[in-house]
Amino acid sequence: MAAGPRPILIAPSILSADFARLGEEVRAIDAQGCDWVHVDVMDGHFVPNITIGPAVVAAIRPHTAKVLDVHLMIAPCDAYLEPFAEAGADFITVHAEAGPHLDRSLQLIRALGKKAGVSITPATPANAIWHVLDRVDLVLVMTVNPGFGGQTFIPAMVDKLFSVRAMIGDRPIHLEVDGGITVETAAIVAKAGADVLVAGSAVFKGKRGNDYGGNIADIRASATAAI
Ligand code: DX5
Ligand code: ZN
Repeated sequence: MAAGPRPILIAPSILSADFARLGEEVRAIDAQGCDWVHVDVMDGHFVPNITIGPAVVAAIRPHTAKVLDVHLMIAPCDAYLEPFAEAGADFITVHAEAGPHLDRSLQLIRALGKKAGVSITPATPANAIWHVLDRVDLVLVMTVNPGFGGQTFIPAMVDKLFSVRAMIGDRPIHLEVDGGITVETAAIVAKAGADVLVAGSAVFKGKRGNDYGGNIADIRASATAAI
């Protein structure tokens, strides 16, 4: 990643898309300006919700050439890293809280030829990832408690973003935020150092209704104006 202001990347979360038309929805956000496609995988154990598995990732892969950013909210996770890699994920992000062997999981993801990400829930301190910064290409700071779309942004996460951005320093690591990102909160997180903004309800059910392109552009403009 080049030095200087990082370009803001928008990753719509397809958790808020119409699951009955997922391929079409992925093609729509692709055509209307998203940078990445965020895929929320939930197991009903690590989080109190169940969403999708590797088969759905494989099904949407042919519908976009853009980055598939797979967010694993599952525990344990190691047995599923290869199936998601084979399904076509580009980034595979595991939670620091998902098990005792985070360092090993991150090495596994890179050994599968994929980009590795680590995520921390709101209660987990920034320094929980200090010792794995050289194993990751992305740090995902949850700005809501994981498990559902449409929740409200937790303001206490802004300080954590500043801390993580400082910890990353000039390493080539993306700082991603996820949960409650809107046109308003996009400016706040961008100022705190985030460069990848996940947005579900604000893209698929945003201020411009189902004008996905307009919703994406508004979020990007707000974040870009803040840095
Ligand atoms: C929540 C997921 C998020 C969620 C974001 O656990 O990880 O990606 O879908 O949805 P919004 O943007 O509606 O908060
Ligand atoms: Zn997510």
